[in-house]
This record gives sequence, C-alpha cells and structure tokens, in this order.
Amino acid sequence: MEKRIYNFSAGPAILPEDVIKETQENLFSLPGVGMSILEISHRSKAFDKIHNEAKQELKSLLGISDDYEMLFLQGGASLQFSMVPLNLMPPKNKADYIVTGSWSKKAVKEAKRVGTVNIAATTENETFKRIPKQAELKFDPGASYVHYTSNNTIYGTQWHIEPEVGNVPLICDASSDIIHKKIDVNKYALIYAGAQKNMGPSGVTFVIIRKDLLERSSDSLHTMLNYKTHVENNSLYNTPNTFGIYIIGLIAKWIKKLGGLDSMYKINREKADLLYKCIDESGGYYKGHAEKESRSLMNITFNLATEELEKKLIAEATAAGFDGLKGHRSVGGLRASIYNAFPKKGVEYLVSFMKDFQKKNG
Ligand SMILES: Cc1ncc(COP(=O)(O)O)c(C=O)c1O
Repeated sequence: MEKRIYNFSAGPAILPEDVIKETQENLFSLPGVGMSILEISHRSKAFDKIHNEAKQELKSLLGISDDYEMLFLQGGASLQFSMVPLNLMPPKNKADYIVTGSWSKKAVKEAKRVGTVNIAATTENETFKRIPKQAELKFDPGASYVHYTSNNTIYGTQWHIEPEVGNVPLICDASSDIIHKKIDVNKYALIYAGAQKNMGPSGVTFVIIRKDLLERSSDSLHTMLNYKTHVENNSLYNTPNTFGIYIIGLIAKWIKKLGGLDSMYKINREKADLLYKCIDESGGYYKGHAEKESRSLMNITFNLATEELEKKLIAEATAAGFDGLKGHRSVGGLRASIYNAFPKKGVEYLVSFMKDFQKKNG
C-alpha cells in the first residue's frame, strides 16, 4: 500500500485512518447491502439507516436537544452566508456581525444584500490577530441575530467561549472547529459548518437550527434556499451528498470510540500545546500570528524572519513528508492545520523538524 504523508491542509483535510480503511473495505459492497455506498439511492432503506445513524451520532456527541433540527445541505458554508440572512433577517432586516477574518467578511457581504448589517466589532486593522473582547462588542438590541465565526481558519484565531448576546439569536459559522470539543448547543439559534475540515469530505454542510427559527423563513423564498424545505424533507428534497453523509457518520462513531468530545478536546489541546510551545521557545525564530489568548487549536499560523526562510522551510518540509504547510495566500507565512484527525505523532515530527531547521538556519 502507498505510504501516507502528514497532511496539514486547511481543508479538505486529513481524515481518520480508521475511517478511510473502513470505507475502503466496504466501498465495493456495503455489508448486507450488496452495493457500494456510491451506488445506492438516497431513498433506499440502506441509506435511510446510514443517514439516521449519522444524525443520531452527532446528536449524541454534541448533546443536541429535540428543540433543534439537523440538516446535511450542499453549497458549502458559503451558501449559508446567503441562506442565513435570507431566512432569518426578516422582518426586521438588520443583523449584527462580528468580523474576525476573511470568512466573516464574506458572510457580511451576502447579508448586506438582504438588509442592514451592524459590525458589532472587527479586528481587521490588527490583521485579525485576535478575537475581540466582550466589552468591545457593540450590539444592536433590535438585531434579528448575531453572527460570528468560531474559528478563523486563515488567521489561526479562535473564540474559546462564545460571545454573550443576551436574548438575540446567536448564529455561528463553525466550519473549521465543529466537533473539536463539546459546546452548549442551547446557546445557539443556528450553527453551520462545511464538513471538509473536521467532519468529513467536501460537499456537505452540516446545519443545526433551532425549530422556532423556521417560522421566519418566508414561503416566497426560492425552494432550495428555504430551511423549511430541507427540514420538511429531512435533507432529501433533492439528492444529498450520500457518500459525504456516510463518512460523517463514520467519523462521529470514531470520536465516540475515542471517548467522545471531551477526549477529542483533550487530544486537540495536547497537539496544539506542543506546536505553540515550540513557537514560544524558539526565541522569536518562529513568530505566531495570533495573540496568545486568541490562538486556535485547529490552525496554527506563524512566520519566520524572511519569506526566503519560509520558502526554504516549506521546501524541506515537503521533502521530509509534510504537506499543506504554506499559509493562506492572503496572509503568507506558514499554517499547520491540525484538525481532529491529525495524529499527535505528526505534530511531534513537525516540532522536531522545526527545531532542527532552526538549529541549521538560526
Ligand atoms: C470558517 C470558514 N467559513 C466558511 C468557509 C467556506 O466554506 P465552503 O468552501 O464550504 O463554502 C471556510 C472554508 O475554508 C471556512 O474556513
């Protein structure tokens, strides 16, 4: 079998080896079904079971109550930038957005097509190196909702607790940190996440929506853009990404086997701590982009003194069997994405590689 290398990509990203192996084993023919997951109807009994199991596993992992619906949609998190305001901004047509990076800005761009956007806070003039403090958030108490991005994939910052928004519904783009730890879903009105970082392959967007919010969706909305359509049809109004949902189910079971989200979080903390320690103990050779209290456990962003050194490190890292370490084109530098499935051993190898690189090039 071809050897696997360490994949630090920001997404689509590394998946658990056990899940890939199980998928491979059953790809030709699902046990008891006699057909591949790639071939079965989304209306078949076999898929019904896979779909329901995926939902049940996520419900139990995240402790989602019966007040919420779960959906597997398409169009990526990017389509949610539009669906959220189209469905939930009326009738007041105003919403609060906290801007902590490029993805928040894209969400704002679409919301502005629907109504008035109040920027409750932004850290753009500090190159998004930190998460705003609660005291900095200037909310409009009459807003239809507050939107924020829990983990900023490009800048490597993360909210470690959700913003306090009082009685205004809280909406979260959790694309790059969903299911990395246990959260209190009851604090949210809606959570959405493109699956391709922490949950599965690309092509599925997981949405958790509190049932009472569905009253806001107008019947005049286009059918596919209306949350009600997808809730009423259990995500089967049109053909869903059946394969993606299958993988999401396997990943949820994999986390359960590890001991659930508390164990997952502990592992994620350990991995991130290793890498941040290496950065902090490098005497400034490696410089983290994010301020300490805002550091992401998922995407670790850092720079070296010059672009030449960064290029050299990436070239040597590639030769040593690491992939995906180049920072996003908008910020440069390096980014190590170490989502749930990224093995601790891989982080240890990267740390020892970085120490070695510093010794030779410091
Ligand atoms: C936080 C965040 N939001 C939204 C997106 C966009 O997701 P998609 O490509 O699924 O539309 C990404 C993708 O990287 C992201 O990291």
